This record gives sequence, C-alpha cells and structure tokens, in this order.
Amino acid sequence: MNGSRILLVVSGGIAAYKAPELLRALRRAGHSVRCVMTEAARAFVAPLVLQTLSGSPVRSALLDTSEEGQIGHIELAEWAEQVLVAPATASFLARMANGLADDLPSTVLLATRAPVLVAPAMNLNMWEHPATRANLTTLRARGVEVVGPDEGELACGFEGPGRMSAPEAIVAHLALLLGPSSLAGERVVVTAGGTREPLDAVRVLGNRSSGKMGYALAAEAARRGATVRLISAPTSLPTPAGVEREDVETALEMRAAVHAAAADASIVLMCAAVADFRPANPVARKIKKEKLDSQDELDAPLDITLQRNPDILAELCRERSSSARFVVGFAAESHDLLAAARRKLARKGCDLLVANDISRRDAGFDSDDNAVLLLTPDGEVDALPLLPKPVLAARILDRVEKMRGARA
Ligand code: C5P
Repeated sequence: MNGSRILLVVSGGIAAYKAPELLRALRRAGHSVRCVMTEAARAFVAPLVLQTLSGSPVRSALLDTSEEGQIGHIELAEWAEQVLVAPATASFLARMANGLADDLPSTVLLATRAPVLVAPAMNLNMWEHPATRANLTTLRARGVEVVGPDEGELACGFEGPGRMSAPEAIVAHLALLLGPSSLAGERVVVTAGGTREPLDAVRVLGNRSSGKMGYALAAEAARRGATVRLISAPTSLPTPAGVEREDVETALEMRAAVHAAAADASIVLMCAAVADFRPANPVARKIKKEKLDSQDELDAPLDITLQRNPDILAELCRERSSSARFVVGFAAESHDLLAAARRKLARKGCDLLVANDISRRDAGFDSDDNAVLLLTPDGEVDALPLLPKPVLAARILDRVEKMRGARA
C-alpha cells in the first residue's frame, strides 16, 4: 500500500480519547504517523499510548531541549506530507485561524507547507458560535479541509453537530485528499444494489445483491478525484466519502435516475442487479389469504404475472451519440461464464463487461471478495484473481482509464 507521512495533531477535547483508534486506522491504511499533542490533550490521552501506536516519540513541548534534540519542530513540519488535526477544538481552530505559534502543535502548523485536514469536535454552542464560523471560513479560504463534525449525542450532554467524525470516516476523507487525481474533472455515475419490485403493499421481488461492488467502485472513483453520483437500490452500506448518493427502489426509478445523471457523465458503471421482470399488476394493499372464500382457493397456487423491465444498460449504450461516454456493464452468471459474458457484451453494446461466476462460494453476491473476467468488444479477456472488492474496483477503473487513454 502506498502510505503517506501523516502528522497527527491531537488537541485537547474529550474526543482525544478516539485518537489512538484513529492512529491505528491510519497505520492500517498504510500510513506512517508521527504525533504531536497540545498540553491539554495530555489530560485526555496518555502520550505513551500514541507513542507506542505510532512507533515514534510524541512531542508536546516547544521549549524542551531533549524533545527538540530528538526531532526538531521544523523537521517535523517538513517531514509531514499531510497534517491531520483530530480532534480540532474550537480553541485550536481559533489559534490556527490567527496564525498563533504559542505551543509546539500550533508552531508546527505554521511552519508546515503540507495540506491540512481538520476534524472538529466541540460543544454544539461553540460549533455554532460566530467566532468559530468565522475561523472556519478563514481556514477554508486558506485551503484547509474540514471533515465533520457528526451530529449526535455530545459528551457535554447536548445533542447536535459537534462529535468528531468516526476514525474510519476521517481515514476515508484523507484517502480522497491523498488519492491520485486521474479522474479529476470527470463525472462518474455508478449504480449499485439490487432493485426491489413491489408485489403488494408489503412484499417485493428482490435479489441478493449486497451493493458492495458498486459502493467500492463509487469510493474508488471519488478517491481518484471524480464527481461521483451513486444511484443505489436498497443496501445496508454507508455512503462512501465524497460520493453523492441517490436512493431508488425499483428498476423504473433506477432507469429515470440513470438517464438523468448519465446525460453529462463521462463514465457510467452499471453495477446494480436490476430486476429483469416486475409484477405486472402490483396490488396497492396487502394480498390477504383470508379473503379467499373456500379451502380450495386457499390451497390453490397464486399466479403472478411478470412484465419485462427495460434494459437500462442496453438503452444507455444505444442512445450514446458518440463514443465520449464510457459504459461498463456487469454480468452475474451461474454457468458457461465466458460464453454467456461474450453474448451479453455483444447484446448490450457496452465498452467493457465485468463478468463474475456466482456459483463460486468464495466470491460474488454478498461476499467481500470477487474473481471476475474483464471482456472488451475486441475480444480481449482478462481474468482477475480473487480480490477484495475495493482492490477489484481499482483494477476495473485502471482498465477503464487505460482504454479511454488509448481511445483518446
Ligand atoms: O442482462 P443482465 O441482467 O444479466 O445484465 C446485467 C447488466 O445489465 C448489469 O450491468 C445491469 O446493471 C444491467 N441491467 C440493466 N437493466 C436491466 C437489467 C440489467 O441496466 N433491466
């Protein structure tokens, strides 16, 4: 993993107790981390914890000869490729906004040329105070990025915005800032999840798609700098950082959303498992078995007539006026994978088809991993090994970028 050198600045709020967890998440993501903390932060989290987890000495004091002898404050400022202030208290943000250098962390922040991400955490009234608003406006205008705060129950007993974002969300936001910008300026549409087709007021026809592959693609496209719209059928997944999500339920709703979003998109990734059929006459109420008059009727099977749904992917490929928009289709097959995928690629007319074998137990629907074939219209087939879906998402987008580059 290509990690970065992150300087973690911990300021003194109650959310500092999450700093060790954040530090571990940064290390897990492959980053090297050095840590500095304000005097106040030491009251909330022991320096030894951060020192052990980062594998480097933790500094707090500016005018301490032994600390300064180990690693100088300017050296720290230069070492950092990215600074992360988490938690960022109202007081620390105010000092940053005013360019104060009255302790070690604020001095390092003034001395560094690295980009800065802050994760504010404070009492609701402090967050909403005009002074804090003005400080954030100043910092944003200087290019400081802000993640959070989240809304919820605050340690001070208040309810509202003020909680520091979860460590994983901060790491995901950082990944957006540190990621390659190979898709900067592009608009990417991703569909994900399995559509649900109503049968009556409570029942639906659905499928087992978890949405994980589509969400991983949306996250990766955002990490590469694209503006991403994720059109999602019901899933239980959180929206990836930097992604704009639109929820839909049925194939017809997905179709409308896709056509609207695809109009100015340069890449469309149709990962959703769209139901090929929907009940022709959904009942507005709940179908009740008790309403049937006789035992014979109760025992009789219930016939449901299904009607074909439009093929959104095929429509999109047909309507494309030029080759400017790159469309990727997905195919889940239970047998004859390659032959079926070749036929599908030809029938749909997409630029790339990602085919996976759903009969495999270790891959596919609802799994965290997948093994796929990538098929191109010129007959090329590339078999990717079993990979975690986020890694697979990167491989698929690498291929999309390469094919578009060759076209250009
Ligand atoms: O034909 P099949 O459902 O196997 O094709 C799968 C591909 O077509 C996926 O990319 C899926 O998102 C898309 N699809 C669609 N509209 C449908 C059915 C599938 O866009 N009605």
